Amino acid sequence: MTMDIKILLIEPNETVGDLIKKNLEREFDAKITLIRSGFEAVEIIKKGEYFDLCVARNQSETTNDKAIEQIAGLVLNSLYDNSLKTPLIVIGEFEHTLKKYAMVSDQLRIEELNRLVLKALNLKREEFSHLKMPDYIPYPTTHFYLMTLCPCDVFIKLTKRAGDEYVKRLHFGESFTKDDLKKYEDLGLKEFFVLKEERELFMNGLLTQSLKNLRGNYEPMKAVEVAADSFTISGDLIKSLGITPTCVAMVDQTILHMRNQITKSDKLGLLLKKLLDNKMSYSYRRSYMINLVSFTLLPKMEWGSTEQQQMLLEKISMVSFFHDIYLEEDAHLKIMNREDLKKVALSPKERDLVLNHANRAALLIQSYPKLPQGIDLIIKQHHGVSNGVGFPEVLTVNISPMAIFFVVVEDFVTQVLEHQDLTQLPAIIATLKLKYTLPTYRKILTEIESVFKKK
Ligand SMILES: [Fe+2]
Ligand SMILES: [Fe+2]
Repeated sequence: MTMDIKILLIEPNETVGDLIKKNLEREFDAKITLIRSGFEAVEIIKKGEYFDLCVARNQSETTNDKAIEQIAGLVLNSLYDNSLKTPLIVIGEFEHTLKKYAMVSDQLRIEELNRLVLKALNLKREEFSHLKMPDYIPYPTTHFYLMTLCPCDVFIKLTKRAGDEYVKRLHFGESFTKDDLKKYEDLGLKEFFVLKEERELFMNGLLTQSLKNLRGNYEPMKAVEVAADSFTISGDLIKSLGITPTCVAMVDQTILHMRNQITKSDKLGLLLKKLLDNKMSYSYRRSYMINLVSFTLLPKMEWGSTEQQQMLLEKISMVSFFHDIYLEEDAHLKIMNREDLKKVALSPKERDLVLNHANRAALLIQSYPKLPQGIDLIIKQHHGVSNGVGFPEVLTVNISPMAIFFVVVEDFVTQVLEHQDLTQLPAIIATLKLKYTLPTYRKILTEIESVFKKK
């Protein structure tokens, strides 16, 4: 998240001014205009330059030859005269007829000043936690999977009694392969580290290289693996950076990549077998399988024209990518109903996450650009509950038809992954039939049955 906070700082003392300026830059990543007198402030305010906040010393310092300037008073009058609602923080004792429009810190205390800045701008401290970063920033080794060149120096951490030590392992410009990374992982390494100052360099390299390598030409089974890496990376990035243009490009590319593979391949069985191979993440394999089954199934549902079906498939692939994005543990991903929920021991925080993951993912996707209509609703209802919280007591038809479709397909796919054996399909379908007795749900199951019978 980046937002530029612009602050007009008026402080007559040079040393103090620099101190406050550096603090505001560090704490809030703010852009500071530092000036020395109330007179200058009035001039700037008159010109109409925008500031989010003014911070002013109460008055100028006492000198022999100059009269004391009532800095804060001048600023406050000027804001008032120009009908500006810019908040004002005054440092030092302050009396004024408009005092109620200012926040006053009687003494210069940095902590107090920072607290007032948050209050004045209506912000929370957590929104700036990224500025308090350690010198070395960890990135999971999985983030390097689609890279081949080091965009900056990369370190590993050695934990020693005297404190952590960082040792350079990959040099700027050095090339590496996924096998090299696997060797580190086999030694138990899970994270690499990048210098704080170089994190943007790293992120740029990560995004551009991953995008480029994702677009490469791979033989079908290798392509499934490449998409798996990208699925993990882009999901992680969107959770940590939010919906940014580069993240969107990577998610779009990943989804497109998966969709192309599926439409190109006529070997449903072969792809399914590959997905049972648990070297790739569970979350990816399930999403992929949902896509795969949906692509075979949807045309048979007779839901509109070929064009409309194409739209539905596009929606399903978006939903399959995003619906469980907030769940990281396989155990959490496998909770599909109230009984499963009871069986898994969860901390209150984990429980909250599991109960609200559908709703949270639906909220996240709402800011996605050019989002096809109704995707947030399908994500919200992907466990069969209309408000997206928890799991249903009984199945209902009061959710979107596409959500019903998704519920049945995901349940089927989850069972297939659980059994790890395609010969078990008839038994799986028989069990699901006991659960899905409502006609709208049953119809989807019947279609699944007919598709797999033919194989
Ligand atoms: Fe799911
Ligand atoms: Fe889910």
